Amino acid sequence: MTPDTDRREPRGSIACVGLGMTLGSHLSPLARSYIEQSDVVFAALSDAIVERWLEQMHPDVRSLQPYYGSGDKSRAVTYREWVDVMMAEVRAGRRVCGVFYGHPGIFAWSPHEVIRVARAEGFHAHMEPGISAEDCLYADLGIDPGRHGCQHYEASQLLLYETPINPGAHLVLWQVGLVGDRSMKRFATGPEYRQVLVDVLSRDYPPDHGIIIYRGATLPIERPRIRHLALRDLPATDVAAEDTVVLPPAAPLRAQRAVRERLTELDRMAAESREHPSASHEK
Ligand SMILES: C[S@@+](CC[C@H](N)C(=O)[O-])C[C@H]1O[C@@H](n2cnc3c(N)ncnc32)[C@H](O)[C@@H]1O
Repeated sequence: MTPDTDRREPRGSIACVGLGMTLGSHLSPLARSYIEQSDVVFAALSDAIVERWLEQMHPDVRSLQPYYGSGDKSRAVTYREWVDVMMAEVRAGRRVCGVFYGHPGIFAWSPHEVIRVARAEGFHAHMEPGISAEDCLYADLGIDPGRHGCQHYEASQLLLYETPINPGAHLVLWQVGLVGDRSMKRFATGPEYRQVLVDVLSRDYPPDHGIIIYRGATLPIERPRIRHLALRDLPATDVAAEDTVVLPPAAPLRAQRAVRERLTELDRMAAESREHPSASHEK
């Protein structure tokens, strides 16, 4: 080993961790240890109280909220800046922790991007999962995604792209409060935008289909907010940025007869070879 290779520069690293949804109860021991052992912490959290709580865990917590700016700034610019500001510290050789509410990799661009960039530059990068709005939704609404299946979409995707929907499964729509916003500058869109969403959904669901607007608790003193309504009433109902909309199945599961018959045949052959093991060896 030459003296040059021995004199290594300190290497930066990044860990993006999820804080979970509810203050105080969702943070995993591993996520907490990433926070406590980092040199600097960047935070994109659901509200200021949660940010104060995080500040008790580390002396250098820097909020990413001010990057949103006001008025005319695109969120695409903000999210790029988040990556840049975290990477600047990684490149300076520091252990960086990005803390995001919920799960850092669910409907969140910057954590995936900063990890991609850091790895491309040879830095160590890790994502530590957290309890997301999706997890809370299953618990609070009593939905098991394994029963009928479950589709998740960013609501605008249904408007902007051909998106086949399976009405026999649950449909979970994220960011309905700003559905149809292509500017990435608005934090809310109005009833007329939700009407476009309802019109698209009406290809697969009847107008009186019962839907749910769900908001999980972010503070321990809160209860989940669960509103039931008919699909046709979605435009006239307030939907906040932090609400998620759920459409339960509207059609029964349909049996695939031909495939079932094939499975029956396989079962029959498996039973036969169990009963006559030597016959199958002799073949
Ligand atoms: C940018 S995504 C962030 C999701 C987050 N990373 C997670 O793991 O849940 C924002 C969307 O998450 C959902 N969301 C955020 N907070 C929520 C809450 N308290 N209850 C239900 N859904 C929520 C809403 O659909 C919202 O539009």
